[in-house]
Amino acid sequence: MTEPILVTGATGTTGSRLVQRLTAAGHPVRAASRKPSAAKEIRFDWGDPGTHLAAVAGVRRMYLVAPVGQADPLPQVEAFLATALAAGLRRVVLLSSSAVPEGAPVLGELHALVRRECPEWTVLRPSWFMQNFLGDHPLAVALRETGELVTATGNGRVGFVDAGDIAAVAERALLADTPLNEELVITGPAALSYADAAAILTALGVPARHRPVSVTELTQRHIAAGYPPDFAALLAGLDEGIRQGAEDRVTDTVLRLTGRPPCSLRAALLGAMAGPMPTIG
Ligand SMILES: NC(=O)c1ccc[n+]([C@@H]2O[C@H](COP(=O)([O-])OP(=O)(O)OC[C@H]3O[C@@H](n4cnc5c(N)ncnc54)[C@H](OP(=O)(O)O)[C@@H]3O)[C@@H](O)[C@H]2O)c1
Repeated sequence: MTEPILVTGATGTTGSRLVQRLTAAGHPVRAASRKPSAAKEIRFDWGDPGTHLAAVAGVRRMYLVAPVGQADPLPQVEAFLATALAAGLRRVVLLSSSAVPEGAPVLGELHALVRRECPEWTVLRPSWFMQNFLGDHPLAVALRETGELVTATGNGRVGFVDAGDIAAVAERALLADTPLNEELVITGPAALSYADAAAILTALGVPARHRPVSVTELTQRHIAAGYPPDFAALLAGLDEGIRQGAEDRVTDTVLRLTGRPPCSLRAALLGAMAGPMPTIG
């Protein structure tokens, strides 16, 4: 393949890992960022249509991370996709979420869009990222400051997944000879409660305990962390689904697509502690 693969969200949790993988495998990559810092990066801003045409020029395949933190990303993505398809785009791999079925508000509306508009498509529906326990995620910030994992999930379990495994699946979906044209629910190897996660963190030397709170309290915490109120409410509401068991599952997607089993939470945290990714504490 000689055309560059466009990676939106290229500096983010999954996009950065995907850029690393594609580059290491020798594929031409165009990494999109609002603040490009290297030659292979291009300036791209969802809110600035003037940056869109140059980003998609000559591109046939794209990893799509929709505008993050917006309650209604559909208009911006729809307009951008139209530009990209007119310029020759064929394949889109959309990052969505296990919590979001097609048609559901926000990301769910984008599933239908890519399935309808793109000749070749995959929708990635990963469970909660293992990397949420690290770095700038509100969960990780509170963990560092208070030793607590604050959620409204109760005893509900989640199939936490490593962002590196999501990137590996994205890579397969982008490069497959035959387009997948399917939705993929992606999990790690085990469904764990936040109390289970706290025990794993503690065993690794990061003292942690789970503090269950109400959805209302969690919404307020997300707002205090800087999320817009409607998005904060939406995020906190997902915890209620977890409490009721919606995320208590594991899938074979990582094994099926990459040929190797998904990374455990313990291994992902150990890897992060060893660097070069952000470390705990
Ligand atoms: N965290 C979870 O547990 C989880 C689980 C399932 C699904 N998800 C989904 O994953 C997505 C987030 O993906 P991620 O974690 O890979 O991303 P991320 O780490 O949150 O990074 C966001 C990326 O978007 C880019 N970006 C932000 N605003 C932009 C703008 N106006 N124009 C262009 N680019 C912009 C940023 O690039 P620059 O700053 O360089 O411009 C950055 O690379 C969300 O849709 C979320 O729903 C998350």
